[in-house]
Amino acid sequence: MEIVVRTIDPCRDPLDCLILPLFSDGELPQAAAAVDQAGSGFLKQPMQEGDFRADCGQTLTLYHAPGVQAARLMLVGLGKSSKISDLNYQKALLAVGRALADRGVTQAALFGLELAVPQRDPAALAEIAVQAIADGQYRFDRYKAPAETPRRELQTLTLAVDDRLAPQGETILAAATAARITSEATAWARDLANEPGNVCTPTWLAEQAQTMAASRAIEADILGPAQMEALGMQLLLGVAQGSRQEPRLIVLHYRGGEKDAAPLVLVGKGLTFDAGGISLKPADKMDEMKYDMCGGATALAAIRAAADLKLPLNLTVVVPASENLPDGKATKPGDIHKSMQGLTVEIINTDAEGRLILADALTYARRFKPAAIIDMATLTGACIIALGHQTAAVLGTDEALVQDLLAAGRQSLDRAWELPLFEVYQEQLKSPFADLSNVGGRPAGTITAACFLSRFVEDIPWAHLDIAGVAWKSGEHKGATGRPVPLLVEYLRRRAGHPR
Ligand code: BES
Ligand code: MN
Ligand code: ZN
Repeated sequence: MEIVVRTIDPCRDPLDCLILPLFSDGELPQAAAAVDQAGSGFLKQPMQEGDFRADCGQTLTLYHAPGVQAARLMLVGLGKSSKISDLNYQKALLAVGRALADRGVTQAALFGLELAVPQRDPAALAEIAVQAIADGQYRFDRYKAPAETPRRELQTLTLAVDDRLAPQGETILAAATAARITSEATAWARDLANEPGNVCTPTWLAEQAQTMAASRAIEADILGPAQMEALGMQLLLGVAQGSRQEPRLIVLHYRGGEKDAAPLVLVGKGLTFDAGGISLKPADKMDEMKYDMCGGATALAAIRAAADLKLPLNLTVVVPASENLPDGKATKPGDIHKSMQGLTVEIINTDAEGRLILADALTYARRFKPAAIIDMATLTGACIIALGHQTAAVLGTDEALVQDLLAAGRQSLDRAWELPLFEVYQEQLKSPFADLSNVGGRPAGTITAACFLSRFVEDIPWAHLDIAGVAWKSGEHKGATGRPVPLLVEYLRRRAGHPR
């Protein structure tokens, strides 16, 4: 999707599609008013008839509008003007993205960047619009028979500015371009995650990472079982031993910062299919456990975006990738494995495997002497109980890092909320036979999982994002969301002092 910013006369420009946001009450916004006048009040008709109430997210496409050169008008409701918010704006533009994709519109111009949305200037609205439209355009249909008429995607999105906004054109273009790069990385994370488990194996995921890195300023290093053995990664190997697929440790480096500046390290859970192991999961929705590599996919997407944005920082990504399956060789409940770091772990439940592969990956990450570590993982079902599917959980040892992630989540509308990591929860991880148990019982499952991880990061500033609830959707729009790529890229841009 190419992005253009320019002034447009909504009546004279012979475009494919004009996107006109409207309120359900109050006056018509500028461009809509001009179009309405040119057609002697025809725009108000569908509203007067009640066909189109301009409820938030409602769309209506009109053709051959009188006095307008464009082929189509796409009206989109923003709801009540008094209730306009960034979230409503995002919801409306997501609907626009879907409607454009349904109609196969290839060129569209969006009006309304001048609208007064609390806390959001025109550049910020452009970012939200680009990401929401890209989100609505996203499809994962490569395994379906090709449609009779090939699908057409939006090729050019023109952001219309009036004379008053025109001086901000460059700022708007820069913001929208960063949003486009973020959206492309997000869509890639979704593609990786939506691949079925029989395709997306640890080896395949590592190959995708290598291919992505090869066309960018990213260095890739892929470790297999022999190297893991030599490093003493018995937790990662222990999870993988029930599978015929070899595990991989994917390590990527992007060096956009000062030569000797300590890197930020992102660690992402890359469990390509989680059946639970010997502690087998129930069959219901087990297919969704192909999404257990979403933490890894979003880490890979974040470094891709950092390289594409040429952010001036050093970033390393570590993704432990494995399957978790039951097998004659699989780890059994009660087995004890020694971590790379030296602590022994009693595996009470083989379904609590994410923390095991992350533990060795976190220990490995320490060798890069990180300024900070952030990990992302679909780690606990308990996180869905606590925060549902709207909000990711953040826990960490560094309050400033946690606050920065929360702020990045608010700015990118990819929200997160903090849960406490009090020392007292460590009690729940005691084992009678080993240094640690891999489960802490039912209470505070998200917190005890984070407590487990904390034992392997030790003194490095660290934060953990539990994305179990937000990484994918079930139901009508089933599929990976790409979250928290928007949060991560926003965080990285801020950390790099990227102009916004
Ligand atoms: N990948 C799952 C967590 C999960 C479950 C995410 C459902 C999203 C939806 C993780 O490996 C897991 O199985 N966790 C267990 C831990 C428990 C055994 C302590 C869980 O949450 O049930
Ligand atoms: Mn599990
Ligand atoms: Zn899992």
